[in-house]
Amino acid sequence: MITNTEIAKRGNQFPNHIVDFKHENDKIYFTTQNGVILQVTILRDSVLRFRYATEYVFEPDFSYAISEDVNLGYNELTVEDEIPEYVITTSKIKVYINKTDLKVQIVDLNGVVLMEDELGFHWDENFDYGGNVVKMSKVCHSGESYYGMGDKASHTNLKGKRVNNWVTDSYAYGKDQEPLYKSIPFYIGLKDSIAYGIFFDNSFSTYFDFAGEKRNVTSFWADGGEMNYYFFYGPQMQEVVESYTDLTGVPELPPLWALGFHQSKWSYFPEQKVRDIASNFRKLNIPCDAIYLDIDYMEGFRCFTWNNQYFPNPKKMIEELEEDGFKTITMIDPGIKVDRDYWVYQQAMDNGFFCRRADGPHFKGKVWPGECKFPDFTNPEVREWWADLYKEMIADMGVSGVWNDMNEPAIMEVPTKTANLDVRHDYDGHPCSHRKAHNIYGMQMVRATYEGVKKFMFPRRPFVLTRAAYSGTQRYCATWTGDNVATWEHLWIANVQMQRMCLSGYSFVGSDIGGFAEQPNGELFARWMQLAVFHPFCRVHSSGDHGDQEPWSFGDEITDIVREFIELRYQLLPYLYTMFYNYIKEGFPMLQSLVFYDQKDHQTHFRTDEFIFGKQMLVCPVQEPNAQGRRMYFPKGNWYNYWTDELNSGGVERWVSAEIHRVPLFVKEGAMIPKYPVQQYVGEKEIDKLLIDVYFKEGTENSEVYEDQQEGYDYKKGRYSLRRFKLTGKENELIIQQFKDGNFITPYDSFKLTFHGLPFKIEAVELDNEEVNLNEIKLNGGNTIEVPKDFTELHIFGK
Ligand code: GLC
Repeated sequence: MITNTEIAKRGNQFPNHIVDFKHENDKIYFTTQNGVILQVTILRDSVLRFRYATEYVFEPDFSYAISEDVNLGYNELTVEDEIPEYVITTSKIKVYINKTDLKVQIVDLNGVVLMEDELGFHWDENFDYGGNVVKMSKVCHSGESYYGMGDKASHTNLKGKRVNNWVTDSYAYGKDQEPLYKSIPFYIGLKDSIAYGIFFDNSFSTYFDFAGEKRNVTSFWADGGEMNYYFFYGPQMQEVVESYTDLTGVPELPPLWALGFHQSKWSYFPEQKVRDIASNFRKLNIPCDAIYLDIDYMEGFRCFTWNNQYFPNPKKMIEELEEDGFKTITMIDPGIKVDRDYWVYQQAMDNGFFCRRADGPHFKGKVWPGECKFPDFTNPEVREWWADLYKEMIADMGVSGVWNDMNEPAIMEVPTKTANLDVRHDYDGHPCSHRKAHNIYGMQMVRATYEGVKKFMFPRRPFVLTRAAYSGTQRYCATWTGDNVATWEHLWIANVQMQRMCLSGYSFVGSDIGGFAEQPNGELFARWMQLAVFHPFCRVHSSGDHGDQEPWSFGDEITDIVREFIELRYQLLPYLYTMFYNYIKEGFPMLQSLVFYDQKDHQTHFRTDEFIFGKQMLVCPVQEPNAQGRRMYFPKGNWYNYWTDELNSGGVERWVSAEIHRVPLFVKEGAMIPKYPVQQYVGEKEIDKLLIDVYFKEGTENSEVYEDQQEGYDYKKGRYSLRRFKLTGKENELIIQQFKDGNFITPYDSFKLTFHGLPFKIEAVELDNEEVNLNEIKLNGGNTIEVPKDFTELHIFGK
């Protein structure tokens, strides 16, 4: 008999030789003599899943991360029994499974090694909790780089770093601090300019070491659960990210107003304060679509209640704000105040919805309202109940969106900052402790919130925001990066976090603009805004302890700069919405680090600052005080300076001037950038023309614009408008071809095209083979023309 002490001392165990092999449809099983089973599932020719069991047994297969809509199906699958290994071949890759030690090697069809086990799978029995600490180590090849992993506040390239995924309330976190608010155990490896990805779908605390401990080893492990990872083959990073995003899912389109500018603070109250803030936006002509109510709107921080003293008639206030173009967003936390006279508490008590400790008592923890209990959102019945709690807030009061905070869950006054590890969870019928459920707790809370908000907003679209997240949470909501700080370093962090999140399948993301803790000066606030208007989610939020943080809080000069950039965001709404469409359609990230844009260019592998916004704009924020400009790297292609139309060639680093009212911003040659007129809020104006900035290129470039009703679900029934443009520029001619899809009739009749960098003077214009009278379409006597929207081919001739 093996004693417990012996088990505790055992250390790493390894699989030995394969004694059995079985191939059933898309699954192949390899069993070793010491009881390890490796199950390989072929999801697609380029997407494989590797799952390991010890002691011959797989636990039931269940994951919160995987989307129901994942694309499955492969073209080719053969398994050969060779010496010294089994060989699995798809139409994209070959996998070798070594017969003596179960080690895995994956190569592309040219025989280039993509990924290979160092020690491979091994495990250590967990004496305290049962089960195993499961481990995997891979060879890190020289020159290999690593990207992704969610919200890490570290260099975009993770080579040399160790990270931990354990969602944590990290007030005023610092650069490289671990762990943070999200657990997204997905990375992209880049080796010899070939990209692959790994998603370790394990909700326990996970660790990744990217050649930090040993120069030539990359490893990942978890405190429990299964070694269960997906391998995605590129060779393009885009394919890796798209495959991961397909596997873990995408959201539906948000209402367009959600892509507008949002203003928040902890907290705007009483009602008059909220109204004053809103009316100041209108008075100063600074566009804004949403205003946030933080915890103080509640009665004693009880979720789903209103403080009647501060907000005597919330319905009326919300209605009037809405008339003025403001949506109201309210906060809901997971902790339910222990209070026998509070209906939410009573309902949860009556129905047994609160989490319990291992020995039976309820789990209690302190949050804003004092002692709280916590619903077990991993129980589907609890989620249903929680969703229905939103009825009054959304359907009756008129709140348009909900913000779930503290859902790690964050617990005050305890060193662990969260629930005790012995807390029990249903885990959708797979009962477990908090060790396993912690990382998905916030996700399941926000999932329930999303279901509720969606139900009661219908036929309008829901807007939901979360702080904690696990892979797949992007299906339900937007997210922000938690309690950052008003420092220049945090401006840098915000930039890398947004890029990293976008590469990790989670594009609808933003930072607290200006910083949550402490207070920015006007310069930092303006520079942050110049970055954040290019982030998918754009909201100012601050703790309120250190002064005001509204766009007008830093004097007139800053107010004017901030207004100009928020206006730019509103002009770019059709471009931004098209980015969102591409994200949900193809999994294409809304922001891309330069390495994603051109992985063959080694200069991009360690760049952190520059990023591509959508597919055709290049942004490089200014991240230092007193700067008149900065050096930045231009990736391949030619780029027009947005402010001056000057053309810059790619492949070089150069100085770009950017005084306080400018950010380095460039447009790809050949791009057609759609714009709306400035509106104070989405829907303020009927769009009577689509403005398109056309950037000349000798050669061709494709652009597109997606539009629909900006609300509702008709787009799913084909009521959308997707216009694809092919621009072809020649010495004396520019041709624009248009291809249309969808049956939504856009409200405008014409395009107003403004040409940039046109090497000739417009002499004649032909629309679908008919010459048009220049005098009738030429505007401002210069490089702008107005043409009917539904042409197929437009020719501009010059001399
Ligand atoms: C947390 C949130 C912050 C919020 C505060 C009060 O710190 O991250 O955004 O303002 O709680 O609710």
